Amino acid sequence: MTEASQIKLGAYCDKINEALKKMTADKPYLRENISEAMEYSLLVGGKRLRPVLMLEFCRMCGGDIEKITDIACSIELIHTFSLIHDDLPCMDDDDFRRGKPSCHRQFDEATALLAGDALNTLAFEVISEAAMNEVISAQTAVMLISVLSKAVGVNGMIGGQIIDLASEGKQISIDQLDMLQRYKTGALIEAACVMGAVLAGKYEMIPAAAEYADSLGRAFQIVDDILDVTGTFEELGKPIGSDSEQEKSTYVTALGIEAAQREADRLTEQALLTLKQFKDHEFLADLTESLLHRRS
Ligand code: IPE
Ligand code: IPE
Ligand code: MG
Ligand code: MG
Ligand code: MG
Repeated sequence: MTEASQIKLGAYCDKINEALKKMTADKPYLRENISEAMEYSLLVGGKRLRPVLMLEFCRMCGGDIEKITDIACSIELIHTFSLIHDDLPCMDDDDFRRGKPSCHRQFDEATALLAGDALNTLAFEVISEAAMNEVISAQTAVMLISVLSKAVGVNGMIGGQIIDLASEGKQISIDQLDMLQRYKTGALIEAACVMGAVLAGKYEMIPAAAEYADSLGRAFQIVDDILDVTGTFEELGKPIGSDSEQEKSTYVTALGIEAAQREADRLTEQALLTLKQFKDHEFLADLTESLLHRRS
């Protein structure tokens, strides 16, 4: 990434981290451990890709991003909930996340389960609160909640996790793998981009935002699958070889590393092409490209 893009990304992340910190600052009596677990998993690290996408799409669509950091964080709350649950022994059974012990290892399983649940509902609370405080209109809030709730549910991330678990130890077709990925990872990435366009009121750009997200989401999961084989724990902050240990169906098992990398290259090119429909897209193009070569 260019130095200017790195500075911009850093500034976005600082704002996002500050907003996330405030959201879990309150440690209510007798429920302190849940707030601590939520705070722990949220603030321990993470690339903050999804809130950055929401803010950038809003900005590229001509929206004002000054007051919407909390709303952009709603997608990070959901994403972190998905990661906490993804690491549980009944799912991927991973002991590390974002370079630190997973939520259920740092606390316990029940606390991790409930912290994930509480992050899920907090995301929708944050959006409705923004409407109550007249930061956004009630109509915009309903649209955002509609997009986000669909992206989380059976026809979104949760649906993808169900297919992911059901595909362990099986050989699935590339079409089924694409579908798995589109739900598991693509849905939240698409929601982030579409919510940005909704926040700007630029509804005619929603299809282009979704098209970009579809390519990026698939490239992103392919790289995640490759890094599970070629990365190091120090770089990734999560266990290497987790997929093969759990006999997951991944782009690496389906295509092999080289063909998977070529597919990620192709999809990134496709995403960059779609991005050209947006004004002032240089930063996001730079970020999109950098995700292809990421080591974390
Ligand atoms: C990891 O997502 C899970 C996938 C959907 C592949 P990220 O790679 O965005 O994780 P963080 O937020 O940076 O930790
Ligand atoms: C997880 O996919 C996608 C989610 C919905 C959390 P992975 O299981 O591949 O994510 P990592 O590799 O554990 O981050
Ligand atoms: Mg998983
Ligand atoms: Mg996992
Ligand atoms: Mg993975």
